[in-house]
Amino acid sequence: MKSETAKLRVALSGNSKEEHNSESAEKKESWGIIGSSKVIVACKSDASKIAKSDAPVLITGESGTGKELFANFIFKESKRNKKPYIQINCAAIPESMIEAELFGHVKGAFTDAVSDRKGKFIAADNGTIFLDEICELPINTQSKLLRVIERSFVDRLGSDTPYAIDVRIIAATNKNIKEEIKNGNFRNDLYYRLNVLSLHIPPLREHKNDIPELVKYFCEAPSGSEALSGNVNSGKNKSLDNDAINKLMLYDWPGNVRELKNYLKRLFITSSKEIIGQSSIDIEISEKNNFLPLKKAINKFKKKYIMDILLANNWNQSKTSAVLDIQRTYLSRLMKELEICEAPSGCEAPSGSKAPEVDKRNLSYTRNHAETAKR
Ligand SMILES: Nc1ncnc2c1ncn2[C@@H]1O[C@H](COP(=O)(O)OP(=O)(O)OP(=O)(O)O)[C@@H](O)[C@H]1O
Ligand SMILES: [Mg+2]
Repeated sequence: MKSETAKLRVALSGNSKEEHNSESAEKKESWGIIGSSKVIVACKSDASKIAKSDAPVLITGESGTGKELFANFIFKESKRNKKPYIQINCAAIPESMIEAELFGHVKGAFTDAVSDRKGKFIAADNGTIFLDEICELPINTQSKLLRVIERSFVDRLGSDTPYAIDVRIIAATNKNIKEEIKNGNFRNDLYYRLNVLSLHIPPLREHKNDIPELVKYFCEAPSGSEALSGNVNSGKNKSLDNDAINKLMLYDWPGNVRELKNYLKRLFITSSKEIIGQSSIDIEISEKNNFLPLKKAINKFKKKYIMDILLANNWNQSKTSAVLDIQRTYLSRLMKELEICEAPSGCEAPSGSKAPEVDKRNLSYTRNHAETAKR
């Protein structure tokens, strides 16, 4: 398998020298996809293989992980890379216009149809179409898209003559598509048609070791490029020291690479220093992260765990200590230490104890949590 991948890579790089001389600088950067972590290298390798095929591909992953970049990568690595590449954001087109936009119409098909219109699928003929945010496609349009995929024909609105097309489809979503199917928002049959090949892009928290490389890229990208410095004049010549980069790696980046890029953009605008140290990062990161010292974190876990078991056992300490496999007296001591002091009314309460305010809040959280978990 490894040697197969290696062979494929050799074949691809040879190909690129011959076919994309003018774009060789971009090629070295894997079409702007930065990262040498195992997961990103594996994604790039999968994307290269996917590019060799004409089958539909579904790209999934959280927002800001780079799905669009990977769609572009697949197009650029494919044999269709000299043919049209039509990108559509399904969420950005009003529902009333989406069918005309995708499949086209003939003059007079509806009131505003003053002339013929090709539509995106016909425009993408012999090439590739990228349907971004595919889960936002209205359910009726999903049925029509399914027909197009199954028949390789487009029915333009108002026309009886189907238009034969040859289009490679790349779709992407940041939603949980199986959940969308379960909720009746996405057609199961369309999912199977689109998901012939699949590519999942991992969140940045799963490849934090790429952060130094990403930071370097966003700091050094040439002016005018898609990357950070090109967009921010005051960002020119600014960089982060190692401690600052290490600090960035402590954060989980729920908005993924996009959030990192925007954070750096803001940092470069607001910082007057040329080399930014960790103290500048601290303010932003510490607000977002809630890391506790180890002892506090362990106690927080213990408290919640014990309260969950107390609750499940109707606040009976004997049963709870049996589940925890500790002495009842030790449980009692732990409850005092951890300030677990009050049982809800109707339950057995630990003797001689009163609940501080904070415990009531925690208790209600824990109860809701336990109830939700049971449902
Ligand atoms: N590996 C990467 N290397 C360089 N830049 C990246 C990488 N991943 C993402 N980016 C950058 O992060 C931003 C978001 O990427 P992209 O638009 O591809 O994300 P997405 O997964 O399509 O997000 P959404 O689901 O919100 O549409 C872009 O500016 C992109 O250039
Ligand atoms: Mg996108």
